[in-house]
Amino acid sequence: MNKTVRAHTNIALIKYWGKADAQLRLPLMSSLSMTLDAFYTDTKIEKVTGPSQFYLNNEQQSAAASQRVFTYLKKLQDRFQVTGNLIVKSINHVPTSAGLASSSSAFAALAAAFCQCYELEVTPEELSRLARIGSGSASRSIYGGFAVWQKGDSDQTSYAYALDEKPAMDLHLLAVELNTKQKKISSTHGMKDAQSSPFFKPWLKRNDLELNEMIQAIKDNNFTALGQLAELNANEMHAINLTAQPEFTYFEPQTIQAIKLVEQLRAEGIECYYTIDAGPNIKVLCQLRNSKEIIQRFSSEFNNVKIVNASFGPGITYLD
Ligand code: PMV
Repeated sequence: MNKTVRAHTNIALIKYWGKADAQLRLPLMSSLSMTLDAFYTDTKIEKVTGPSQFYLNNEQQSAAASQRVFTYLKKLQDRFQVTGNLIVKSINHVPTSAGLASSSSAFAALAAAFCQCYELEVTPEELSRLARIGSGSASRSIYGGFAVWQKGDSDQTSYAYALDEKPAMDLHLLAVELNTKQKKISSTHGMKDAQSSPFFKPWLKRNDLELNEMIQAIKDNNFTALGQLAELNANEMHAINLTAQPEFTYFEPQTIQAIKLVEQLRAEGIECYYTIDAGPNIKVLCQLRNSKEIIQRFSSEFNNVKIVNASFGPGITYLD
C-alpha cells in the first residue's frame, strides 16, 4: 500500500559545507548529525492522469515553487526507468529555509514517498543515496539518533549510516527561532562561495579528526566533549564564510547576542553549547536538567522568541 511517509529533520554537529560534485551532491567532507523529534515533514506521492502538482501545507504551489521538487522526482524516475505525472502532498512541521534544516526532512520524505508510490524496495543505504541527490543533509534523515554521512567518492559510496539510533546520551537541542525569515543566501551558494576562504582547505584537513573525535564522544557518552566539538565545528564553518572572498555571513545581531548569552550561562556553571547552520538561528545543546533554566533565560533576553525543546527523533516512519 502507498503510505504517507514521515521524515524528521536533522542538525549537523559536524557540518557538511562544500560539494565535490554539485549534480550528484557528493560532499567534500563527511558529516555527523542528530535527528530531531520536534521537526518533521509528512509526504505522500500519488500517480495521476492529470498534470503534476505540488501541495505544501495544503496549498497548491506555483510552477516556480514546485520546480526543485519535480526536477528531483524526474531524476528519480529516470534512475528507476519509471514514468507518470505525480501529485505530491507535503505538510512541513518546520519553518522553511530559516536554517532549521527543512530541506533535510523534505527530501528524505520525498525519496521515501517516491519509493512507496512506485513500490520500489530499497535498503536504507540506497534510500540515503536517493535522498542525498535532493539535498545533501537529507541523506542523514533516513535514520534516527546519530547518523554519519560518509563522504565517499561516487554515487555508490556516498551515503549515511546509523551510528546510534537509540542513544543513551542525555542531549537536548533547543531550537531558538530568533528570526524565521527565509535566508538570503541558499546553502548551495554559501557552500560554493565558502571555498574561496584561505581557511577552507585547512578546515577540510581537520574533517577526519573532528569526525572521529565526535564519534568517540558519542561512544563515551560524553556530553561535554560533544558540545565543545559541535560548537568549534560550527564556528569553523562560519569563520570560513567570514573569510571568503567576498565575505558573507548568516549571522544577524541577534545571533551574536545569543552566542553571548550561551557564554554567560556557561560562566555561571550552566553547561550549554551552540551550533548554527545556514541561517541566523541558534541551536543550544544542553542536558535535561538545565533546559528549563536556559529556556527562561532566552525568553527574558529576547522578546517573543520561540524556543522548541527537541531531543532524539526516529528515522523514516510510515504513517498509514
Ligand atoms: O543539504 P543542504 O543543502 O540543506 O545543506 C546543509 C548545510 C548545513 O545545514 C549548514 C550543514 C549540514 O551538514 O546540515
